[in-house]
Amino acid sequence: MEFTSLKSMFLKYYGDGPVRAFCGPARVNLIGEHTDHQGGYVLPAAISLRSVCFVRERQDGIIRLRASDLDVVVEAHISNLSKYKSINWGAYQIGVAYVMQQKGYDVSGMDILFDETVPHGSGLSSSAAIEVAMATAIATLSHEKIATPIDYVELALIAQEAENQYVGMNCGIMDQFASAMGKKDSAIFLRCSDLTYRHIPVRFMQHGYRLILCNTKKPRSLIESAYNQRRTECDLAFRALKAILNINCLADVTPQQYEAHQEVILDPIARKRARHVIYENARTISACALLEKDDFVAFGLLMNASHESLKKDFEVTGKELDTMVEVSGNQKGVIGARMTGAGFGGCSIALVESQHADAFIANAGAAYEERTGYTPEFYYADITDGAGERETES
Ligand code: GLA
Repeated sequence: MEFTSLKSMFLKYYGDGPVRAFCGPARVNLIGEHTDHQGGYVLPAAISLRSVCFVRERQDGIIRLRASDLDVVVEAHISNLSKYKSINWGAYQIGVAYVMQQKGYDVSGMDILFDETVPHGSGLSSSAAIEVAMATAIATLSHEKIATPIDYVELALIAQEAENQYVGMNCGIMDQFASAMGKKDSAIFLRCSDLTYRHIPVRFMQHGYRLILCNTKKPRSLIESAYNQRRTECDLAFRALKAILNINCLADVTPQQYEAHQEVILDPIARKRARHVIYENARTISACALLEKDDFVAFGLLMNASHESLKKDFEVTGKELDTMVEVSGNQKGVIGARMTGAGFGGCSIALVESQHADAFIANAGAAYEERTGYTPEFYYADITDGAGERETES
């Protein structure tokens, strides 16, 4: 929805008075998939699909949450924020408020209206967008009282903690970091073991390419348990390699070390998972260098290799994502395609020569629908700034 309509909706629900808007963008990951939880490199960017919350402080300690597209009202009290973990909608937001309160933020009562343009279950991290929007709102309101600047890296960590501890999804830091720290027309080259990062300019458009998000529309199910299981398998591989190598995380292992020592990982599944993480990490380092040189053709080849590895070694793709990537690769002007995000459904991305972009959407869409029965959606990815306060009338 437009901000002007959201503001009217807020005033209708909560009455006249001041209101402010805080935005958390979704993210696309260009490459570096399932490396964040192993301390590796990722290359995500914030995109123009977003979550926004319209907010007004209350003095009675009640947090009242509504959504623009749901008939639901959640009422929580700041004295009791730990007890809303199992609510159907609103746990991300209350989880963030809870974690911030634990960390000493002055969390007050608030009237809040949320609105999303990120399709749910699309692998573009609608949950991180919600968490980061909420964290930005609370941080802004509480920091104004003490007049210190907001630390957006800390907000990303808070949002991740809320998702890990409150919602129970053991995700890495990539999504929340991208949403909090994104920069217009840049990707973030982030090392997840110590959060060192650099913004890398992304010049697809200037060089005649479009990045297209391809939503398979396959509903994702049981994703938390499969995701957490992959982490356990990686952990097994890490412990086996750590016994013989001087490493702090699985992504510290180089492909050469992996080839020399892989037999110490006795479980064949764990060995495959490790191979994905270790090679994907190396690909991400190379991809960043290629992006800096505007070598998109070589970058596209790494995208393809990334998908293959996610399909065969990490096994998080599934029929729909594989079909979308395969039909994408068959279209004119496509120089790379891969799934993005956790997998098991959701979105893939394709890097396409601009003059073929519209035909790509029509033809890949038709071929995908014929083979899977799902009607896909496509979006052009505009890379935007990260979280922050926005004008309520924009
Ligand atoms: C999800 C998680 C991230 C990351 C990706 C896979 O989006 O939230 O932390 O692990 O999957 O790269």
